[in-house]
Amino acid sequence: MVNGKLHDIARKMVVRNKGILAADESNATMSKRLESINVASTPESRRQWRQLLFQTQGIGDFISGVIMYDETIRQSDDSGKRFVELLAVNDILSGIKVDKSTHDLAGAPGEFITEGLDGIRDRLAEYYSMGARFAKWRALLTVGKGRPSDYAIHTNAHALGRYAILCQEQGLVPIVEPEILMDGVHSIDDCRLATTRSLTAVFEELLDQCVDLRSIVLKPNMVISGSDAPNRASSTEVARQTVDCLLETVPSEVPGVAFLSGGQGDEESVVNLDEINKIANSERLPWELTYSYGRGLQAAPLSTWLGKNENVLAGQVAFQRRGLDSSAAREGVFA
Ligand code: 13P
Repeated sequence: MVNGKLHDIARKMVVRNKGILAADESNATMSKRLESINVASTPESRRQWRQLLFQTQGIGDFISGVIMYDETIRQSDDSGKRFVELLAVNDILSGIKVDKSTHDLAGAPGEFITEGLDGIRDRLAEYYSMGARFAKWRALLTVGKGRPSDYAIHTNAHALGRYAILCQEQGLVPIVEPEILMDGVHSIDDCRLATTRSLTAVFEELLDQCVDLRSIVLKPNMVISGSDAPNRASSTEVARQTVDCLLETVPSEVPGVAFLSGGQGDEESVVNLDEINKIANSERLPWELTYSYGRGLQAAPLSTWLGKNENVLAGQVAFQRRGLDSSAAREGVFA
């Protein structure tokens, strides 16, 4: 188990060559993923899927930490070894999603607020005692028709601040995730504006609420065109706009930024990260820039596995491929 200071844990989460695996899909989301490969979603099928990932040979070469869901952090592999312990053998930190998902924001049709603050102090203490050393909270903002509103930006930023300081109080590094949803026809400039407004509000709240910025990991979207936009921006433009947006909004004390994949295609999520790190390699940016991908790491192995025992090894090879490509991109040496 790791007993370092919080900022050492944060630095370890964003260490060179590695990124974070987001395997914290709620049961509802994981059910959708499993149903897409015609596998019934049960605690056992979800456990088997996570076991496939966590037992992959060499996982510690490209993964620094795994975010789990409440059900998953309580589960074990076939031999009875708790997942937390299995990951620790590979020097991988355990993390836990602690938000209770997004809900309609009252008074703002089409916008959302993340719930889960009630009772969170006790839940964080329990997760710490189970071996978790970091946590995740995802806020979700949508773009278009006047969205995101200042109201949605500020209520979500305030909740992220409340969550983050409680995590630090309980000895966990908070992953602070204000996601601008990629779904829609909006342009990259619309995404840039929304991301700038949101990150500005988030860092104001973190500072107001006494959060130690050296002991967080920021998990933002890349600045990117909407998934259905006409003329989507190139990876070089995504990289330039993303880095410039972060330079405007993210204080240099923050040790690292771990991007979500947010529904980008597999190739897209790797190439964009590679371009971002090519800029980092030439411009010496203050933070590490890595990945915290869910779909970006899992989509290929899931569709290889198909829930069949005989495909476990092939699924693990597919996961390794995605991990090693993302790791190369994290260093800016993929292409
Ligand atoms: P995606 O990479 O699939 O966007 O998931 C990351 C995540 O954890 C979203 O909260």
